[in-house]
Amino acid sequence: EKVRVTLNINGEKQKLYIEPRVTLLDLLREQLQLSGTKKGCDYGQCGACTVHVDGERVNSCLTFAVMLEGKEITTIEGLAKGDALHPMQEAFIKHDGFQCGYCTPGQIMSGVACIREGHANSEAEVREYMSGNICRCGAYPNIVNAIMEVKN
Ligand code: FES
Repeated sequence: EKVRVTLNINGEKQKLYIEPRVTLLDLLREQLQLSGTKKGCDYGQCGACTVHVDGERVNSCLTFAVMLEGKEITTIEGLAKGDALHPMQEAFIKHDGFQCGYCTPGQIMSGVACIREGHANSEAEVREYMSGNICRCGAYPNIVNAIMEVKN
């Protein structure tokens, strides 16, 4: 049986009917067509599905959507302001913070949270905070450079 839930997604209030077992990741990708958030492992190991809930990063594959009544959710689609990319998006482009790009939305959402939560005081601290976001192409040094640039 579906449950009625009101979520604020990228600044837009949405009344939704959701089955209790549906994850936030599947809700975003399949019900709302917000496919910028990626599914890598679907069990909390890769970080590709990272979004913000009330400003804090979460793995959307581990979060049931029905538990988020009244919460503000930000996905990669919600970072840019009109035509202006978010500074973290600009920095990833400038520093080549990706190759295939599959992990990039999650990396960028984690990078924004890294700075916001005060974990970008050194490269080592950034690497530690970002350790849950796996990049198969090994773009790690460039990702750290991008985050350090936005921090400074
Ligand atoms: Fe959520 Fe991998 S898809 S952590």
